[in-house]
Amino acid sequence: MASDMEQGGGGAFPVDRPIEALVRDHDMVRTLADKYLNSDSQEVKKQAGKQILQALHMHSRLEESVFYPAVRCIDESLVKHFEQDHQKVDDLLATLDGMSLDDAHSDTLMRELISAITAHIQEEETDLFPRIEGSSVDMTPVGVQMAAFEANMVHTQAQLSDQGAMRR
Ligand SMILES: [Fe+2]
Ligand SMILES: [Fe+2]
Repeated sequence: MASDMEQGGGGAFPVDRPIEALVRDHDMVRTLADKYLNSDSQEVKKQAGKQILQALHMHSRLEESVFYPAVRCIDESLVKHFEQDHQKVDDLLATLDGMSLDDAHSDTLMRELISAITAHIQEEETDLFPRIEGSSVDMTPVGVQMAAFEANMVHTQAQLSDQGAMRR
């Protein structure tokens, strides 16, 4: 099963079904959240926590920059509500980003983040995605833009870690 776009990397972006890509991200976050919440190992929690922060950062930027603007016409106030959710999540992300993720305070914040994000992605999947699928919005051009945006973020991320992650 060859990819239909020459993107390289892990799993081609399904440009004609971009919602599938978002749900795939959601599933990954849910899996990492389960891992974080159910592991007794501090090391596993720390690793899963870091991966959650990174995945959410990328996913939120992708939705805010390309996906939400393209589907705002479906329900403007719902999309606005999701954008506000993102702001709350971003505040938590920013706080957690500078923390070592292995003490009680960061654990409390991480659990708060997981609970907020789990509710948010559930709402997107229940209240927004089915309505897009039932609408006349052509998602393929949106998918093409999303694929490009994501590829660009992955590239930038790789460059930053190549530079030794010494960003200030
Ligand atoms: Fe979202
Ligand atoms: Fe999402």
